[in-house]
Amino acid sequence: FRTLDDIDVAGKTAVVRVDLNVPVENGAVTDVTRIKRIVPTLRELIDKGAKVVLLSHLGRPKGMAAPDLSLEPVASALSAILARPVRFVATDWRDGRASAALEGTAPGDVLLMENTRFHPGEETNDPELAAQFASLGDVYVNDAFSAAHRAHASTEGIAHILPAVAGRAMQAELEALGLVLQDPDRPVFALIGGAKVSTKLDLLVNLVAKVQVIGIGGAMANTFLAAQGHPIGKSLVESEMLGTARQVIQRAKAAGCAVLLPVDAVVADELSAGVETRTVSVDQVGANDLILDIGPATVALFEDKLQEVRTLVWNGPLGVFEVSPFDQGTIAVARAVADLAETGRLRAVAGGGDTTAALNQAGVTERFSYVSAAGGAFLEWLEGRPLPGVEALKA
Ligand code: 3PG
Repeated sequence: FRTLDDIDVAGKTAVVRVDLNVPVENGAVTDVTRIKRIVPTLRELIDKGAKVVLLSHLGRPKGMAAPDLSLEPVASALSAILARPVRFVATDWRDGRASAALEGTAPGDVLLMENTRFHPGEETNDPELAAQFASLGDVYVNDAFSAAHRAHASTEGIAHILPAVAGRAMQAELEALGLVLQDPDRPVFALIGGAKVSTKLDLLVNLVAKVQVIGIGGAMANTFLAAQGHPIGKSLVESEMLGTARQVIQRAKAAGCAVLLPVDAVVADELSAGVETRTVSVDQVGANDLILDIGPATVALFEDKLQEVRTLVWNGPLGVFEVSPFDQGTIAVARAVADLAETGRLRAVAGGGDTTAALNQAGVTERFSYVSAAGGAFLEWLEGRPLPGVEALKA
């Protein structure tokens, strides 16, 4: 793929697709992680003398203008972080205000256009809307890896009209992810948690063919444990997926991928904060027990395996990390990973919405080699699916 190194932007207008789909509460942005990620690209474009026109979606307004999903509050947050004015342009893309706003602008100016999803053509990848976006500039820079799984007018269509390159945040994502599945230091350990096997089946099937070890935690592990004949009491389980879970294990065996399932669990009678808990082996889960976290022996099992591998890719919490004390297993493993990553012996990459939140809660995000800013796009990448926004940059 091409990057900012491959084009000359001086005196040009760069249309930059960013992912400013950030949480906004009462008119204020409550998490600026995604805003910070795009700063290097924006600074570079400004320093090189380009005008910058930013395109992003926010939420899912279904092709209509929705005042509560306006990007206006995000413009103020971006301006504060960038330490320069960001001009917000209100438009529903049918009124010509976007192009009119460019009149009289100078190199170094930054404009943020209104939510691309206020027009139905964004999600249908309407060529006319893509052309309208393209008419705002001379080059297209995609810095929104986290929206790259969408074949939308601002992520895909426009890339076929203007010279298209990856921004620095997109480049960093692709390079970090490339070192995990395409060209990794082996062995590679995939640590997969979360609630459901059904939503992660494609991902598991892809990973067992590519990595040397898979560790499974979270409620999805209950389905695997049940499939192996372990008692799981009243724990969350997908009974209709037991056969599928067995098939995943068979596929892993055939591909030479070791599967690590929990060997112990933290259980309780109900899921609530501060409830009384017990730690039991997976053979001793009682009829009324709920499995809510991995236990210390499982943490140790995962930690031992971490010593043997060179690359870790992690998606999904290992317990109900939103409810204390069921965050302990995830936090313990996260710290062990961070310690190893800091020594340089392990390349540790994580991604996905819940995972990012869990690592933030554990306070280890900065100590990982790379934490993706993507949710759905990270999962689709783990599934081995081509991402339309990335493919369009290669064309
Ligand atoms: C995200 O937050 O994961 C991206 O911005 C994509 O949002 P979407 O799922 O609404 O397309």
